[in-house]
Amino acid sequence: MLNPIKLASKNFLSSLDTSCEEFLHILEIAKNFKNKDLNIKFKDKVLGLIFDKSSTRTRVSFQVAMSRLGGTTVDLNPTTSQIGRGEPIRDTARVLSRYCDVLAIRTFRQSDLEEYAKWSSKPVINALTDLEHPCQALSDYMTIKEEFTDFENVVLTFIGDGNNVANSLILCGALLGVEVRIACPKGYEPNNLVINKAKKIYKNKNLLKITNDPITAVRGANVLYTDVWSSMGEENQKEEKDKDFNGYTINTNLVSNADKEAIILHCLPAYRGKEITDEVIESEKSRIFEQAENRMHAQQALLSCILK
Ligand code: CP
Ligand code: NVA
Repeated sequence: MLNPIKLASKNFLSSLDTSCEEFLHILEIAKNFKNKDLNIKFKDKVLGLIFDKSSTRTRVSFQVAMSRLGGTTVDLNPTTSQIGRGEPIRDTARVLSRYCDVLAIRTFRQSDLEEYAKWSSKPVINALTDLEHPCQALSDYMTIKEEFTDFENVVLTFIGDGNNVANSLILCGALLGVEVRIACPKGYEPNNLVINKAKKIYKNKNLLKITNDPITAVRGANVLYTDVWSSMGEENQKEEKDKDFNGYTINTNLVSNADKEAIILHCLPAYRGKEITDEVIESEKSRIFEQAENRMHAQQALLSCILK
């Protein structure tokens, strides 16, 4: 029976906290959980959830994943706990890690997540920050692997804002050697540190392409991916960003420029009619709901490696 390996890094704060081998191992474990070929229990283990931003998929998929592993979750609502009152992270982290066996945290600044990890005696998982969404990328690449069997010759095109979701797609793409193309309006390019880290991993392969032209970016691509134009915390920029992203909608016309067998992904939640049309979400090319389901299997696999 396949056995989860203990990851070398205590925490999962970034997509680069796993090696390529560990990443593929997590996907293999996830596939086995999905096929019901694996039954691993961590009785009495507790996952603490700290969500400073809203969530449907990440929260519920972690809750169900933990329950399937025989453990439980504690969902800390910042407004009814002392977190919202501004209790220092270093105090919260030291206290919660005495109760819980692992923490999953969704917050704004990556540096706050790192502060939690610094003071927590237990592993910390990134459940989304402004910089990265590594749990999402696990399920994204799991969904791509289900479709194409391996990552060889896969071209992934992300059309939209170069922030958290795009950054994690880039970093994992670099780990796995996948060609990643980003099409975004000027000024919305991915973080430079992320680009430089990815380029170092890709070495001189030139597999990361950033452009302002969506049509060029989708030409021949196997996977088209998008995310909301205004992320959580950017609600007051909505009007301006809607204007800036005009022309970056994944619609049937744009899809017709991709490979004939291309699939469509979206991390959800979506604004139908903005970054993607209704028609494309509901088309036979869409793997968006498989992708959402895979969040649960991938996180169950991640937890089984972290709690090992
Ligand atoms: N994709 C994703 O992280 O969704 P939620 O915000 O609902 O967790
Ligand atoms: N970029 C989006 C992702 C939501 C899952 C956000 O940060 O709101």
